[in-house]
This record gives sequence, C-alpha cells and structure tokens, in this order.
Amino acid sequence: MARQFFVGGNFKMNGNIKTIKDIVSNINNAKLDPSVEVVIAPPSLYLLLAREHLREGLEVAAQNVFDKGNGAFTGEISVPQLKESNITWSILGHSERRVILQEDDQFVASKTKAAIDGGISVILCCGESLEQREAGKTIDVVTTQLKAVAEKVSDWSKIVIAYEPIWAIGTGKVATTEQAQEVHAAIREWLKKEVSSEAAEKTRILYGGSVTEKNSGELSKQPDIDGFLVGGASLKPAFVDIINCKG
Ligand code: G3P
Repeated sequence: MARQFFVGGNFKMNGNIKTIKDIVSNINNAKLDPSVEVVIAPPSLYLLLAREHLREGLEVAAQNVFDKGNGAFTGEISVPQLKESNITWSILGHSERRVILQEDDQFVASKTKAAIDGGISVILCCGESLEQREAGKTIDVVTTQLKAVAEKVSDWSKIVIAYEPIWAIGTGKVATTEQAQEVHAAIREWLKKEVSSEAAEKTRILYGGSVTEKNSGELSKQPDIDGFLVGGASLKPAFVDIINCKG
C-alpha cells in the first residue's frame, strides 16, 4: 500500500515573530503537492501564531510535551493545552533533547504515551551517534529507542517515526540513500516483528539530517523513506521545494 508522504519542519529554537510570520506566509502562498502531509513545528512561544495563520490542511506541532497533564510542572508543555489550541502533533525524543536535556528512552516513551492518550500524534525521533555507527551499533541503538515506546504504546497509528542519525543533524553530512534506506528497512522489519504487520506497512518512516532541496528528491525515491523531518532548511523558502520533491 502507498503511505502518504510526510514532510515535517522542525524550526528548533529559531526565529522571532517576524520570521515565523514570513515562513508561514511563504508556505501559505506556495503551490504545494496536495498529496504530501505537511506539519511545521515552531518554538512553543509561536505555536498559536502559526496555528492562527497557517493555511487550511497543514498542521502545527509542538517540539516537546510533558508526560503528565496540567499541574505543578513549571515550564513544561501540557498535552491538554496543546489539544485545546488545535496543536495536533508533537515531535518527541529529538536527539537534542536526549543528549542535551538528558531525556532517556523511558521518559520519551512515557511522553509518547501521554501525547497519544491525549489525542496528539507523535513524530518519534530515533538515531545513533557517529561513534555508535562506527561501532556497528546503529540498528541496536535505534531499535532499543523504539522498543521502549512499544512497551508503553500499542497503537502506532498515531506515530510517525523519524530516523535522524545524530552525525547528519546540522552538519551538512546527509546520509547516503543506501545508509538511510538500510536503517529505514531495518526499522520496518522491527515494526513487523515487534509491533504488527499492519504497523510495519502503515507507519511512515521519515529521514532527518541535513535534508535540502538538493538531496530530497533522490532520498524520496527509496522504498522505505516516507518523508522527511527537516531542520535548518525548513526555515528557508526552499522548504517548499522539499515538500514538492516528488513532483
Ligand atoms: O529534526 C530535524 C533536525 O534534527 C534535522 O536538522 O538542520 O540537519 O535538517 P537539519
């Protein structure tokens, strides 16, 4: 079966009111491939701004949520409050939160469960460091990260997986099509074995890590690459060309 192509834009902690409005306006005015699902993830402060101005049919994602509902959790982001604001997605488990904020697999899994239980779909990030890749541990690392989620979550229909090799994030060193396809295929095989054939067939697996309008076309031709989670390039007008890369 064909899986709907998905392009996410992770703005990370970048932008200001003007630049976020400019990015949204550029997306709103562009001719976009209607077959592609598009979700943009601005910094939390600008979620409502993006939601208010973004064109019909495109969705807005938080870059993180907490694993408990409302309450005494200073500084955290609430699933019910996102839901109420029609923020329908969240990125979770990004390597920058796993490494810098020390979020472990269990916490990411707990947040994924809380998001899905609260009606928020999840872009679940996984990926290995250069040292882990060079040690031949890529598949082990990625499947261990996914296994922690599988122990808490049985409904994978609200999850899109984003394979983001840490060594390719923000470096300009995009994975080769072979490298990306190999890990995506291994993730799909893991889904089939550990979750279900249906999950393996239907779950979109995105590639992230130095995706640009120059390399997205070639990567998109790989059988197990169902889209992208784009960082730096999502802040630029060429983000539209990545969305339209299959055209
Ligand atoms: O979440 C996407 C991000 O980690 C990729 O960043 O700048 O390499 O596209 P970038």
